[in-house]
Amino acid sequence: MASTNLAKIAYHTLQQGKSLAGLAHKGLSTKLMELVLPDLLDNNFPIKGELFEQLRTSISKLEEKDWSDAEKGIYPKSQLFDAPWLEWATKYPLVWLDMPTTWKRRKRQKTRDLPEDIDKGLYPQYYLQNFHHQTDGYLSDHSAGLYDIQVEILFNGTADSMRRRVISPLQKGLDNFRDRSKSQISVLDVATGTGRTLQQIRSALPKIELYGIDLSGAYLKQASKYLSRRSGEMVQLVRGNAEHMNFGDKSMQGVTCVFLLHELPREARDNVIKECFRVLEPGGIFVLADSIQIADSPDFIPILENFHKVFHEPFYRDYIKDNIDSRLDSAGFIDIQAESHFMTRVWSAKKPF
Ligand SMILES: C[S@@+](CC[C@H](N)C(=O)[O-])C[C@H]1O[C@@H](n2cnc3c(N)ncnc32)[C@H](O)[C@@H]1O
Repeated sequence: MASTNLAKIAYHTLQQGKSLAGLAHKGLSTKLMELVLPDLLDNNFPIKGELFEQLRTSISKLEEKDWSDAEKGIYPKSQLFDAPWLEWATKYPLVWLDMPTTWKRRKRQKTRDLPEDIDKGLYPQYYLQNFHHQTDGYLSDHSAGLYDIQVEILFNGTADSMRRRVISPLQKGLDNFRDRSKSQISVLDVATGTGRTLQQIRSALPKIELYGIDLSGAYLKQASKYLSRRSGEMVQLVRGNAEHMNFGDKSMQGVTCVFLLHELPREARDNVIKECFRVLEPGGIFVLADSIQIADSPDFIPILENFHKVFHEPFYRDYIKDNIDSRLDSAGFIDIQAESHFMTRVWSAKKPF
């Protein structure tokens, strides 16, 4: 009991520390922006008063849920503390070094400033952009190395807690296949990026077959480095477009997809959902996590409306008004359920038998 209480205190202290670090970083970088490129500040959106309190309450609820799922054994408690701290510490100065270039890109509205040596034929047009004004878009080792820290800063240290919300619905959905051995269960993480969701699933479901797909070879390299340092069975990573994946019909029992849909135009969003349906075996489970939307989180509309202005997110404005339930339904999914956790909405949907 005493050790449980201690672990809970340690978890909340860690989260508070990450949150303070995120806020301190944003405060300092705003000061620097004031000196270097003051006109960019006009677009920034300070969060104060009641909205700030609502955000704090929402973060507290997320952390309670995260802790309680770990206590229930949905994933090991060690997951709550898992991060490549040393790597992040060494990479953090690079975030600062990268910042002035990012700001200049933002000021000049340069959104297609990508490495010259990439083979543009490998990627859809909508992908060839500097999402979040990120240096090299998703197309370099440099970008892949900084991505996790940048996301942690953006979400004040809650990114992994939000990603972990896919695990419980995934486990519940996979219960349909409980009479099979674990090695006969395959789960695919679509747009896996640097592999953080895969790592979380691996720790919760150590014996299942795990796959990840992403368009960025650089992000997959980062995922491979990260995953291979962890214990557990190998995870198979494939470079490819989630709109037409090189996996067979009905080959997966579970599919997850985290933080992809808001970066896709409508047609691609639809294609990805249909493709996830195709690769699932009947009875299989699809768990989708992405930004909250206007309809489910009206209190946070000012934040949602502002996000795409500060960060280059060309499809976000359309996404926050999109009806994802209806897209899942049109693709053929049933038992569609959704809940929101801080800035993330998590849908689960089943492919009918
Ligand atoms: C915002 S990141 C999310 C990454 C990861 N799921 C996470 O939780 O951090 C979006 C990811 O989607 C990938 N992506 C974008 N469009 C894609 C597509 N059409 N097919 C496959 N991956 C795609 C990007 O390369 C990037 O890794």
